[in-house]
Amino acid sequence: MSNSPEAIKNFPFPFQNDSYMYAVNIQPVTNQAIFDVDEHYHAEIKERDRILTEGKQGRYFAFPHMKVAQWDVVEIIMNDLANYYPESFSLTQNGDRWTWENKKLNLKDTFTFLDESTLPYEPFEYISRQVQEDIILLDQREGDLFMDAGILTFPASWSLGFDAGMRFEEFHGPVPRAHELGVFKKAKAFLMRVQIGKPWTRLNWTMTVNRRLDTSLDTYADWKDERNTVTLANCGAKVHLRVEVQRFVRLPRSNGLMFPIHTYMISLEELLTNRIWTRRLDQVLKNLPPDLVEYKGLSPYHETVLTWLSQFDLESELVSSSQVASSK
Ligand code: HEM
Repeated sequence: MSNSPEAIKNFPFPFQNDSYMYAVNIQPVTNQAIFDVDEHYHAEIKERDRILTEGKQGRYFAFPHMKVAQWDVVEIIMNDLANYYPESFSLTQNGDRWTWENKKLNLKDTFTFLDESTLPYEPFEYISRQVQEDIILLDQREGDLFMDAGILTFPASWSLGFDAGMRFEEFHGPVPRAHELGVFKKAKAFLMRVQIGKPWTRLNWTMTVNRRLDTSLDTYADWKDERNTVTLANCGAKVHLRVEVQRFVRLPRSNGLMFPIHTYMISLEELLTNRIWTRRLDQVLKNLPPDLVEYKGLSPYHETVLTWLSQFDLESELVSSSQVASSK
């Protein structure tokens, strides 16, 4: 599954500088959808369905005290999709009788808001099966954020089952350097003050071999060896820059926090159509500290990617493209 030229153009390229280090990189979301419906919608909904059909263990859970938060999520997602993609989604509210239509999936359901028995799944599962985003729900209590519900079919190397119920600093436990830099303390203080109707966003990135969305630690045995198959000949097609667009949304009834994660991938070959991005990725990978290379799982192919990139004259192409721009 590759990207159209339009999708490549809109790719959320994550780097502002030639080197990368963890920081509290959170921006407001204004006049923009929270959930993105893109050209991979059908393929990704199908893949999510396949994974959930294999078993929900480690893929979906919601603690009993998250019932109200589940309905918050239903309301926010339905309104967001109906507002931003009216040709595909509509919501009709008649008191607490709601009719939801998803034309993309040929689905139309009428249900009673806050009455779970009127939906085919739990409310959170019902609606999150219709978006491309993985979603984590956090309960805010005791001055902390707890991972108390989630749907996770496309994780970048972590396990929902392992993290279930953990506090913010606990589930970030394995991340190198960021604790010492105070990033998580600051980020948590910020998140706990997110207001209703004012969502925020940040980007995270890593790399993946073979455009594999499901790199869960629970299925590690299935994909770990793929990282050893990268050669100079196949590098451009196999290695992908993987970017997560994450959102932070306050839930109005439960005061929980919703954390949707949309994963975008671009192969190095596709990225090469933008030489400025390619040069920047080259610099970031050259400057990336060894513990981050290791943590992000890049060690088996990091050197091969750098050798592959070195065949392109990225510096002089950059100079000539900026000369062209300034001579116009
Ligand atoms: C509130 C919602 C959030 C949840 C549920 C969440 C969850 C996670 C999880 C599960 C991981 C993987 C850790 C592992 O290796 O096992 C992770 C990584 C990380 N998170 Fe968060 N996170 C959240 C918000 C944030 C925020 C606001 C920041 C701001 C700085 C942040 C920064 C990071 C960083 C830097 C990593 C390492 C990623 C990498 O290098 O690939 N997270 N997060």
